[in-house]
Amino acid sequence: MTTYTWPEILTASEKVNWSIDDVLGAEHRFDFGRVFLPESLARTRELDFLDEKERLALNHIRAHGYLHTFGLVEEFILPFVVDHARADFGGDDDRTRALLVFAEEEAKHIHLFKRFRQRFQDGFGHRCEVIGPPAAIASAVLAHDPLSVALLILHIEWMTQRHWLDSVENAQELDPRFRSLLRHHWLEEAQHAKMDTLVVQKLASERGAEQRAAAVEGYLQIGQFLDGGVAQQARFDLETLQRVIGRRLDAAAAERFVVVQHQALRWTFLGSGMTHPKFRATLGQLGGDLRGRVESIAPAFC
Ligand SMILES: [Fe+2]
Ligand SMILES: [Fe+2]
Repeated sequence: MTTYTWPEILTASEKVNWSIDDVLGAEHRFDFGRVFLPESLARTRELDFLDEKERLALNHIRAHGYLHTFGLVEEFILPFVVDHARADFGGDDDRTRALLVFAEEEAKHIHLFKRFRQRFQDGFGHRCEVIGPPAAIASAVLAHDPLSVALLILHIEWMTQRHWLDSVENAQELDPRFRSLLRHHWLEEAQHAKMDTLVVQKLASERGAEQRAAAVEGYLQIGQFLDGGVAQQARFDLETLQRVIGRRLDAAAAERFVVVQHQALRWTFLGSGMTHPKFRATLGQLGGDLRGRVESIAPAFC
């Protein structure tokens, strides 16, 4: 069993304190001569029908989409956390305060990602097409059992940890400003993963075995819904890239592009969260073979 506690999480979250201007102030610019996203997430290398310059443009498009998609998911994390804090006001002061910090940080991240988008487009010189709108995605996700949603949020929080630690922390080739943005985001997400672990445990304790199994099915359904979203994003990225490089790919190359990039997006937003050891450990605590159920599906998203 995990041993996170609300007072410890609150203390840790109070130590991390940055403003949007620290990360992306008026004086900060991106270096479009460098890659933004690590290759393990972008997977542009196997697209051998693109030259180096075209692959760099795709990396930038993917980096833009990466933060846009984070913004999308944080749009439903924010109301979920606020509702969860409100459900138990006055019960535990550390818990209430920690959850409100969680919500405030996600609101700040949404704001930061919007500023990033504007700054990125100014430098990139092209508009990147993206999935949405955020409100429609949020209402589709929040229609599920809160335990399903909390599981998805837990997956997202651990996924963020994994992206930084496995792929970004030591990637010196990345644009330093974009890397710093990911670092600041990761610093706050570390506390979110612990808080959401406690939220999942509380919601699970209020449900019987059958309801917990249904909630895991709900989590998988949301995953499927998001998979449809990232498949659409891969097609949008193809359109954006063709506009940026000023040429159309032939049919075989276009098809290969969508397959490779859809799988790259699946790994980025689905597989890397579903297979995170801490996420799997929490699934294991739900009983039955709910962990095995998710583990049997995860390889399709890796
Ligand atoms: Fe965030
Ligand atoms: Fe978060």
